[in-house]
Amino acid sequence: MSLFRFLNAGLVFGALAHSAAAMPDFSFGSSQLPDDGRVVVYVGPDGELGRLGRNLDEATGGRVSGAIAAMNFEGEFGETLSLPGLAPYKQVLVISKGDQPLTARRVHDLGGFAAFSIDDDEGLALLADDLGDVDDAAAHLALGYALGDYHFTAYKTVEEIPADGEVALIGSNRSDRRAFERDLTHLAEGVTLARNLGTEPGNTLWPQKFVDHVQTAFEGVNNVTFTVLDADAIRARGMGALMGVGEGSIHDPRLLVVEYRGGGRNEAPVALVGKGVTFDTGGISIKPSENMWYMKSDMSGAAAVAGTVLAAAKRGEDINVVGVMPLAENMPSQDAIRPGDVLTSMSGKTVEVLNTDAEGRLLLLDAVHYAQVEYEPRMLVNIATLTGSAARATGDEYAAVITRDMDLSMQMMEIGQTSGEDVWPLPLHPNHYVQIESLVADIKNIGGTPGASIGAAVIGTFVAEELPWVHLDIAGVDWRDEPTPTAPIGHAGWGVRFMDALLRREAD
Ligand code: BES
Ligand code: MN
Ligand code: ZN
Repeated sequence: MSLFRFLNAGLVFGALAHSAAAMPDFSFGSSQLPDDGRVVVYVGPDGELGRLGRNLDEATGGRVSGAIAAMNFEGEFGETLSLPGLAPYKQVLVISKGDQPLTARRVHDLGGFAAFSIDDDEGLALLADDLGDVDDAAAHLALGYALGDYHFTAYKTVEEIPADGEVALIGSNRSDRRAFERDLTHLAEGVTLARNLGTEPGNTLWPQKFVDHVQTAFEGVNNVTFTVLDADAIRARGMGALMGVGEGSIHDPRLLVVEYRGGGRNEAPVALVGKGVTFDTGGISIKPSENMWYMKSDMSGAAAVAGTVLAAAKRGEDINVVGVMPLAENMPSQDAIRPGDVLTSMSGKTVEVLNTDAEGRLLLLDAVHYAQVEYEPRMLVNIATLTGSAARATGDEYAAVITRDMDLSMQMMEIGQTSGEDVWPLPLHPNHYVQIESLVADIKNIGGTPGASIGAAVIGTFVAEELPWVHLDIAGVDWRDEPTPTAPIGHAGWGVRFMDALLRREAD
């Protein structure tokens, strides 16, 4: 057994290290059209070319504008026309900017559309002039390209995807370069970290492996402190709910805390608390086997927290933030908790577990309590793949957001709108708290009907009434079966862009 685990651990490390890289090399500052290779040109709704586009048209003897005129190009946002072999170029890709004013989010999408249609980005040039009023638009275009270009190749033994190439942002300037290299490239890394963690299977990612991977990603980053509680420490702190979730697994739970201090010395931090169930079988209340494999991503909340703190720390954001990630594997076994068991949480409150598959709220209730007593945050955001019910209610388009006051929810919708990751509010009513009253313990972990609001009520029981609290249920958005321009099929890393936007707003 021990030999097996040793060998297994060795293999795993290699895989994780391999999947960590992967982003093309972006270059900024040139205003020269390339002489060959692949070129992406962005056009107005009627196919109008900008300055660089007109140069390109000239270089191809008018065949770009000719092709646009000849094809039935409607000019909808993101509509793409691929012109292979348009001499002297290997390929010219025409992408429509649509007829709405461009925003940073739309420019990200424009970059993503290019990544979606280009297989081999060696020697690729994006014509990045004429992108509306967006500050450092070329840097945002590169971010969108990087997000849309994500691929996970750790377990491919045959190379199917060309290696990452060099992508030139033509028409960009020094300010674009600075914005990308000091800031947006780190956001792309944060999303990539979250996607890698979310895609990694359960047999290679358990709580301690998650910790290792995150620590590796943070190597050399300034103003960051790690705290890792192992099973003994978790027990010693009285976190019986977090312990309980992991009881059935051979892999012990962990509590991972990453603190970044870029703000004032006495400034209270923003706490980000993410659900980190490295695999959710449901436990003794076992799940049906269909689609159970998705549950390798049940640590998406924790992954998004890690990615968000990484991006903020690497760009040196002017804020204090603490990321708290309770990690456990929810397995059925002779040691596992049973339906009806009562757990004592760190707060002292007892919780009756009527369904072991409602485990996310269990580890989160200990984690939000820990975050409050240890860090006295000024705001607490928790993020979790918590309920199928949220996924059914808000679909692929929105994560569900629950707060205690509508103003805060409206602010979150605004943040979602600008960040590119949208949220929509669901209610939290006093009746939801009534539904979790237990006969034998202080509360129980499920209500009369399963619902996103019940999950929020369980966690909300452990969040101080006066603390601004944002609950994000991302069960519907963390894994995509359909791509968006900035998220290919697979793990979306949902929440990094959202929480990143939230931190930027809290910083000023
Ligand atoms: N991790 C699941 C929620 C989930 C479902 C995430 C589908 C992503 C896709 C969570 O732990 C869970 O099992 N929730 C139950 C709660 C129920 C037992 C009250 C659910 O939503 O069915
Ligand atoms: Mn579950
Ligand atoms: Zn779960």
